[in-house]
This record gives sequence, C-alpha cells and structure tokens, in this order.
Amino acid sequence: MTTAGRADQPDQPDQPDQPDQPDQADQPDQCSYTLSVNGQEHELRGAWMGESLLYVLRNRLGLPGAKNACEQGECGSCSVLVDGELVCSCLVLAATAGGREIVTVEGLGAGERFTDVQVAFTETGAVQCGFCTPGLIVTVHDLLERNPRPSELEIREAISGNLCRCTGYGRILEAVETVRDARLAAASRAAPVAAGATRQEGAG
Ligand code: FES
Ligand code: FES
Repeated sequence: MTTAGRADQPDQPDQPDQPDQPDQADQPDQCSYTLSVNGQEHELRGAWMGESLLYVLRNRLGLPGAKNACEQGECGSCSVLVDGELVCSCLVLAATAGGREIVTVEGLGAGERFTDVQVAFTETGAVQCGFCTPGLIVTVHDLLERNPRPSELEIREAISGNLCRCTGYGRILEAVETVRDARLAAASRAAPVAAGATRQEGAG
C-alpha cells in the first residue's frame, strides 16, 4: 500500500469549528447519573428527571423483582433498600438515588441461591399469586437485620405496609417466625463453640 497519492493533494482549507451539539443530558428535563444496584454500577444518560426508581429498575435496568401495583406508596410491592433504608421505590426519584447503595430482591441471595426468608416463604405456603412476595421478602429481610428477635406484634407492624390479597397473612407470619427461630437456634448453637475457642486461646 502506498500513500504517495495523498502527499500530492493540495492542503485542504481549515474547516470552521462546528458548534457543540447539545448533550442529551443538557436538556432541561433530562439528566445523567450513576445508580449502584446490587453492587453493580449503571450509567443512566439523558434520562427524564421524573422517572421513579421503580420505573428505572424495571424498565431501564431489567430488574423486575420490585413490582408495580399502586405507584402511590400504598402497597409495598415495590419495596427496596436505599442505603439500608426500606423505601417504596415508586416514591423515589431515580435521579436522587445516584451515588447511593440500592438493594433489590434480586440482590438479597447469594447468586442463584435463595435466602432463608425466601425458602421459608415457599415452604410455609406464604406465596400464592406471588405478586406481593418480592416486596415482603425485602421488608422481612430488613426487619430481621434490624431486630433478630421480633415479637409477633413487631412482625405484624413491620409487614403492615405490604398488602397481600391472597394469604390472609397467617402463613407469612409463620414464615417470618420460622426464620427468626431458626436463626436464633443457630446463633445459640454457635455461641458455646465461640466461647470454647476463646477459652482455649486464653489457656494457650
Ligand atoms: S407500587 Fe410502590 S407502594 Fe405500591
Ligand atoms: S400472594 Fe397474592 S397478593 Fe400476596
């Protein structure tokens, strides 16, 4: 291949500078931000400012776990954690969640493994049509993180913002109590082992 022909061409006159094209993000009702969801960063470019976090999770990021039922903060089916705080994602503007840690129901298990809460829900029959289930799973996960020994009343209070039209709540309550009791039993079995290890270290 030769470049001789190109060298013979006369110099082209300088082209005038083109004016900058407006960036989509510069439009008055659009913005760009980064969402951290379940440990992964997602760049949103030229998104409409009014999009809810629920909309962005489902329609832009392909995470359908949070459900869309009322879009008014009434049913809890869209529950997610934002910086560890339980919120209705239909009431949060996605653009305001930039730089915060968002956890959805998809991010609670380890890979494909179900959490103990998810297993208890399925084994006790607390899942019927399943529409309320992802929101309840996130809510129960949050409850047990904050309070490992909730009373029945505290469980009822915690899930009172999650509407379920199928189960009558009895089996949901049973599922939460099953996980609570199993975790407490595991912790009490682990405690003597840890105490023994400490004594041995002290003796050595
Ligand atoms: S869809 Fe968000 S609370 Fe109902
Ligand atoms: S299982 Fe159907 S709404 Fe709860």
